[in-house]
Amino acid sequence: MVDSSHGDWLDRLFRLTGRTALITGASSGIGEHAARLFAGTGAKVVLAARTRTRVEALASEIVDAGGEALAVEMDVTDRDSVEFGVETAVRRFGGLDILLNNAGIARTDRYLDMSEEDWLAVLETNLSGVWRVGQLVARQMVSQESGGSIINVASILGLATQRRQANYAAAKAGVIQLTRTMALELGRRGVRVNAIAPGYVVTGINREFFDSERGREYVQGLFPGRPGELGELDGVLLLLAGAAGSYIQGVTIPVDGGALLGSL
Ligand code: NAI
Repeated sequence: MVDSSHGDWLDRLFRLTGRTALITGASSGIGEHAARLFAGTGAKVVLAARTRTRVEALASEIVDAGGEALAVEMDVTDRDSVEFGVETAVRRFGGLDILLNNAGIARTDRYLDMSEEDWLAVLETNLSGVWRVGQLVARQMVSQESGGSIINVASILGLATQRRQANYAAAKAGVIQLTRTMALELGRRGVRVNAIAPGYVVTGINREFFDSERGREYVQGLFPGRPGELGELDGVLLLLAGAAGSYIQGVTIPVDGGALLGSL
């Protein structure tokens, strides 16, 4: 039985003090939000983006608020770039304890019309990128012998279907199985690997759709009747990142307001 009478009980479970978190795709949306969340709960954060200048202001904001942050350039489709970003982070902070494998793109089209280019681009960023960053960060975590937590950002579209999303849904389904196999191989080396499967959260990746008439109608028809707020991912992110999730391994947690219930 946990003794919750001590004031620091919640802190021990959810605070990330002393940990270093690398976040890919940190310049917008879920990545930017998670960077503020992790920094606000005590982690040193490495903000990775294809263009470093796009995360420098956020790094300054975190430092000005008393946190520690480093902006690094990282294109998840380019192994040299990922290696350089990871090395830069480790040089600065001495190691990595948390990875939010978040960078992703969408290129929607009907299956019959989709170009090779759009198919490959989405698979390369959303699946191979997660594999690549995960591998290089996991090697670092294993070498530290102090464990770590990797959170892969999947999607409900890795578990359900939607028209015009063959590339995205296939990549996200791949992320879910990749998460399980990473967990299987890394678990006994002290690294936990889990995924989140967000439902619809309005960000740069889908804002155009949700601002449209069709998008508004679509979301009203979904089970929750509204898109999620970024802050509604906080609980699951902190659960998986820190001590509260110490016995959670290889799972994908949907955060979708019930969209996956799929009632008829
Ligand atoms: P977003 O478009 O705001 O963020 C995606 C980020 O990834 C951007 O900062 C972008 O610059 C970065 N990125 C793209 N390609 C990259 C590359 N090659 N290297 C490095 N960074 C790259 O959209 P959002 O929503 O914040 O997306 C974050 C993750 O969440 C994605 O993996 C997305 O598939 C996933 N997701 C989003 C949902 C939503 O409704 N917004 C629902 C389910 C999953």
